Amino acid sequence: MSLEGKVVLITGAGRGIGAGIAHCYAARNAKVVVTDLVQDLVEETAASLPTEALGLVADAASQEAMGKVIDTVEEKLGKLDILVNNAGIGGPELDSFLEMDLEPTDDSAPAPTSAFLSTTDEMWEQAIRYNLSTTFSSSTAAMPRMNDGGSIINISSIAALGAAAQSPGYGAAKAAVIHLTKSLAQELAPRKIRVNCICPGLLWTRAWELLASQIKMTQKEMANMTNRQVFEGVVAQMTPLGEEQTPEDIGRLAVFFSSEEARMITGQVVAVDGGITLNGGM
Ligand SMILES: NC(=O)c1ccc[n+]([C@@H]2O[C@H](COP(=O)([O-])OP(=O)(O)OC[C@H]3O[C@@H](n4cnc5c(N)ncnc54)[C@H](O)[C@@H]3O)[C@@H](O)[C@H]2O)c1
Repeated sequence: MSLEGKVVLITGAGRGIGAGIAHCYAARNAKVVVTDLVQDLVEETAASLPTEALGLVADAASQEAMGKVIDTVEEKLGKLDILVNNAGIGGPELDSFLEMDLEPTDDSAPAPTSAFLSTTDEMWEQAIRYNLSTTFSSSTAAMPRMNDGGSIINISSIAALGAAAQSPGYGAAKAAVIHLTKSLAQELAPRKIRVNCICPGLLWTRAWELLASQIKMTQKEMANMTNRQVFEGVVAQMTPLGEEQTPEDIGRLAVFFSSEEARMITGQVVAVDGGITLNGGM
């Protein structure tokens, strides 16, 4: 399935799932624009792609910043066909997320009793900003300027499909991404712009490394395990198909959603999770 001549913009693509999605589009000959908060990361991803690519620093939760990104895309590549809203940050430690030590040695840290009770107003607002406003602001910045017949793909999470008491802000934001997907699909249908949503399951990215290090802090029996061992344990316990998912598993579905093969599919939500949500939520 070739996407030759198409221009795709992927937010939060400096690493992890977004970078994997970028490679999947490049493999189908699309021109790829990657954005992230971190300059080195976007440059690295853009340089690693085999097709024409641009790497731009921009906060996906800012309509103004994303408007400037679209200006550059139009100037350098002429148009925008596909938007992938991937930017997001899981876990409660949002402020320090980018610098956080992934193998903390301080085992005296008290275990939080309840994620609800340890979530401050500020943490809640950040969870919404990074995981929901990113999709809203990037979509509204891009919509008026996208080609008719284009496509938007939103990255939600399996945390959106059932209760997520360990990450209430993240779960609520990702559930709202599903609702936003349907509203955008309705709004953009007259222009034949299709909007669909992917819920990834368990992927070994920096986001999960951080989560594993947090799990170790609260579960003393895991204290001597590596972050990767914690992750593998969760995968083995939760995944009927028995394997973690890869960024390319997500990228291949994004490519399909934005291709002509999916011309009558809009407003849909698909979990790529090895069967984790077969019985409902997580
Ligand atoms: N890893 C998983 O298991 C998993 C599961 C379900 C859903 N997801 C979702 O997939 C997406 C990618 O996650 P990942 O695991 O690759 O995480 P990651 O932390 O490895 O990568 C996320 C990237 O997004 C960037 N980013 C964050 N906020 C941004 C913003 N406002 N503007 C621009 N860039 C921003 C970060 O700098 C980072 O480079 C997220 O939306 C996440 O919620 C991940």
